[in-house]
Amino acid sequence: MTAGGALSGIGSGLRTVVLISGGGTNLQAIINQTRSGDLAINLRAVISDRAGVLGLERAERGGIPTQVLDYGSYPDRTVAERALATLLAGLDAELIVLAGFMRILPVEIVTAYAGRMLNIHPSLLPKYRGLHTYRRALENRDQWHGSTVHFVTPELDAGPSIIQYRVAIHANETETSLQARVQQGEYLIYPRTLGWIAAGRLQLRDDEVWLDGLPLAEPVVIDETPD
Ligand code: GRF
Repeated sequence: MTAGGALSGIGSGLRTVVLISGGGTNLQAIINQTRSGDLAINLRAVISDRAGVLGLERAERGGIPTQVLDYGSYPDRTVAERALATLLAGLDAELIVLAGFMRILPVEIVTAYAGRMLNIHPSLLPKYRGLHTYRRALENRDQWHGSTVHFVTPELDAGPSIIQYRVAIHANETETSLQARVQQGEYLIYPRTLGWIAAGRLQLRDDEVWLDGLPLAEPVVIDETPD
């Protein structure tokens, strides 16, 4: 482990591991709230499947141990996935946060962490599972776009949704402008979801999302506040 800090990470609460592949701006929002004490979790480790990404630097600067799990350095994907499972188990992770992690996890890992693994996906799910969500929303002349935090299940981007940040698509909107606005909302809704879990307010029960003791018929929707 290339430790970017004490092995126990930062903050106290649920032992949380964040998986990334890139820039880590969502990770940064989570680090900031953990450091300020607004989010009561123990950020124990950050794992990236790519070396040299900015997200790893953010973790190291934040005092969180980091690990690179380069799939290419294993004989095949299954062996790499087994190494990841062993790593997560060794970290005694109670909560796994996918934050721009660009790999599909095997069913064994997903089911081992059922109800304890979250993802953020840049669309108003169930619309636009998969890639290029901004482009697809613009091409379809949608009125709304956004981002969703959901529990992870074996089917890609199909787990029960918890909360969405929604923005109206403007005239002359570009992928870049839309992404910038949606991402501002991600920094709100992801830490908020983690806070709900940390406080014992949010659970997955029989594939249903429960918040504050009630099943959620629809995800919570936060609309962008116009300037
Ligand atoms: C986020 O926009 C998220 O919706 C998607 O990947 C992006 C990761 O961005 N899953 P960052 O690495 O957190 O900056």
